[in-house]
Amino acid sequence: MLNKSIKNDFPVLVNNPDLCYLDSGATSLKIKAVIDKMKEYYEYYGVNIHRGVYQLSHQATTEYEETRDVVARFINAKPEEIIYTKGTTNALNMVASILSKTLSSGDEIIVSELEHHSSVLPWQHIAAEKGLMLRYVDLTVDGRITLENFKATISPKTKVVAITYVSNVMGYITPLKEIIQEAHKVGAVVIVDAAQAAPHIKIDVKDLDCDFLAFSAHKMLGPTGFGILYGKMRILDYLDPYEYGGDMNDDVCLFEATYRDVPYKYEAGTMPIAEAIAFKEAIKYIEKIKIDKIHEHEKALIAYAMPKLLAIKGVEVYNPTTDTGIIAFNIKGVHPHDAATLFDQNNVALRAGHHCAQLITKWLGVSGTLRASFYLYNTIEDVDRFLEAVKATVSFFERIG
Ligand code: ALA
Repeated sequence: MLNKSIKNDFPVLVNNPDLCYLDSGATSLKIKAVIDKMKEYYEYYGVNIHRGVYQLSHQATTEYEETRDVVARFINAKPEEIIYTKGTTNALNMVASILSKTLSSGDEIIVSELEHHSSVLPWQHIAAEKGLMLRYVDLTVDGRITLENFKATISPKTKVVAITYVSNVMGYITPLKEIIQEAHKVGAVVIVDAAQAAPHIKIDVKDLDCDFLAFSAHKMLGPTGFGILYGKMRILDYLDPYEYGGDMNDDVCLFEATYRDVPYKYEAGTMPIAEAIAFKEAIKYIEKIKIDKIHEHEKALIAYAMPKLLAIKGVEVYNPTTDTGIIAFNIKGVHPHDAATLFDQNNVALRAGHHCAQLITKWLGVSGTLRASFYLYNTIEDVDRFLEAVKATVSFFERIG
């Protein structure tokens, strides 16, 4: 397991020593190095990038572009395949929008009920607009996506597969590599929502052979308002820009314009510069600890927590075989928001509701769940605090009947 001293790198934990933070699925806490880097930018070279021909602008540009190299190394891409975005939602909307121009009536899009809203709603909208068919992969009784069920859904009409790598409610890892191979056999483009994957498991876009992959900085120790879209160069080069404006253009004439090369043709306007600059500190920190060790740590916490949680009478767990640090559960007969209030009274912060993934909570047959999501700074003591809070919540609602 990882060393408890990790907590000292997170100012929110230092400033709230009694906090048991189990909502990293919503956003992770930030390391001091990220906060310091943002401050460094604003205090020492806080000017615009790419545009200035003065020394400070060169410094800001160098810091900004260095993040592209660090991200590329992290997911085994080339720097020019890394597009800066505002986050996963922005990235997934961007891909849906730029790809939609290549689609026509009757084409099929495969999604799943495990998708976060940002992976499915753009396609619902485009499907309605263009007469496309949205098809859902059947889930197993556990709620998993399998290759077998995917094969039963794909057809020669499938043009796009928009799929999660790790479910933000169930914590399952999708067997993506095999799914992508199948999708490519019919020429479909695969878009991966890696928002809950990039912070927890090793991603290698070359090995996966995905066409697009998106994730957010804020779920992996980095700043809010910033994220990454990886795309294959051949496709990025072919598609039109998403937004038009400053810094993405080349030659502008009265009635037409040419655009910069990838990735810049997809980065219009002034980007979140401080956030981009600071994100590399988060990745370097994760690389130092090693992503595989983070995943092992989360699995060890779950292995400790799960049997104890399952043994508490009055608790319903929806994903006892979770692959990552996410547990979805309810206190039987209690609305998750009411239960979460009780957890809060014990200073245990977790999420309650549908987690912006209503399709899977509906599939589970509930209006929402409680979700405890563990990350590298959580400890066995946090698990014990969590289990005590579960027991206290169960007994409170038993008492009030
Ligand atoms: N999508 C984030 C979550 O799962 C906010 O909580």
